[in-house]
Amino acid sequence: MQKKLWIPGPTEVKEDVLKQQAKPLFGHRSNDFTLLYDSVLTQLHKFFKTEQHVMALTASGTLFMDIAARNLIRPGKKALACVNGSFSSRMYEAIVDSGLTADKLDVEWGKAITTEMIKEKLDESDYDIVTVCFNETSTGVKADLKAIGELLKDYPNTLLVVDAVSSMGGDLLLPDEWGTDLVFASTQKCFALPPGLAIGIVSQKALDRAKEVPNKGLYINLEKVLGYYEKKKQTPSTPNISLLFALDYKLKQMLEEGAENISKRHKEMADYTHEWALEHGFGLFAEEGYRSVTVTTVENKLEKDVGELNKGLAEKGLVIANGYGKLKGLTFRIGHMGDHTLEGLKELLTAIEEVWNL
Ligand SMILES: Cc1ncc(COP(=O)(O)O)c(C=O)c1O
Repeated sequence: MQKKLWIPGPTEVKEDVLKQQAKPLFGHRSNDFTLLYDSVLTQLHKFFKTEQHVMALTASGTLFMDIAARNLIRPGKKALACVNGSFSSRMYEAIVDSGLTADKLDVEWGKAITTEMIKEKLDESDYDIVTVCFNETSTGVKADLKAIGELLKDYPNTLLVVDAVSSMGGDLLLPDEWGTDLVFASTQKCFALPPGLAIGIVSQKALDRAKEVPNKGLYINLEKVLGYYEKKKQTPSTPNISLLFALDYKLKQMLEEGAENISKRHKEMADYTHEWALEHGFGLFAEEGYRSVTVTTVENKLEKDVGELNKGLAEKGLVIANGYGKLKGLTFRIGHMGDHTLEGLKELLTAIEEVWNL
């Protein structure tokens, strides 16, 4: 039986959106493609109220971790990686695996990294970039990105790199106002599309930095990607045109609903899930005041069997996610992102109550 995805990505994709991918193709050097890509980027500009450079590249979001590492750190300089979960740790690895240097600002999983902690590190040392995970999908912790952006304004040589993979398009994100330099996401989360496109928003400051960095590779070279767009309004290599049809279509829907309304809908789903979890004797893994609106990581205080739950849910055409990595069994995660609604969420929570006899 097909299962409705209440996992933190890939999330549920609506039939009308899926169908967009069946449109007949055209060449990626045609005027038709230029019109399609331009329409996608124009809508991204509008949705995120940004005048920064935007791009939708054919890859998953992790591509931008390599882009950040290889484009924004100058020779002999280093990064500060804020690590409070598995995905923020992956960003640190991307930098180190590129042969570059990063200091880790590490806090316990479930906790947030505050501006005070970041400031202390920035006052100790010079950093070319600070990396922050806006929404740590492994723990359900949301960073106070606006405050971090405000802090970074006092450190003009340090670029703010943000992994917004699991919240961009769901939670409110204002790159220009908040002062982010590279913020990226994947389509399979809050955009409610299949996986396969990586969306990036890049400041002019970041692009200028990239010009100072040698050996940036080919596919992940920001100058090449943006330069090609500048000249031809296209991508340097063959993109996933089918998914771009779907993104173009989806962005129209997102603009109709509006970024504020979308984030309000996500917050309502998160608040409802939090209350439900506490009412039933579970805990919330993420620190209070820093809880994600797109994914709830429930502390499994009742020591329920998450595997059994998913077996029961499968019979009802539903699935949620177990805890991530070392949190497996200790937590479980409900992804309430993308096109999900409070109504559907209530049905899911009732189904969980039935399976677990809560
Ligand atoms: C916060 C975060 N960062 C990065 C990733 C990796 O994204 P992708 O699998 O699209 O490369 C994920 C995937 O779940 C994520 O949740």
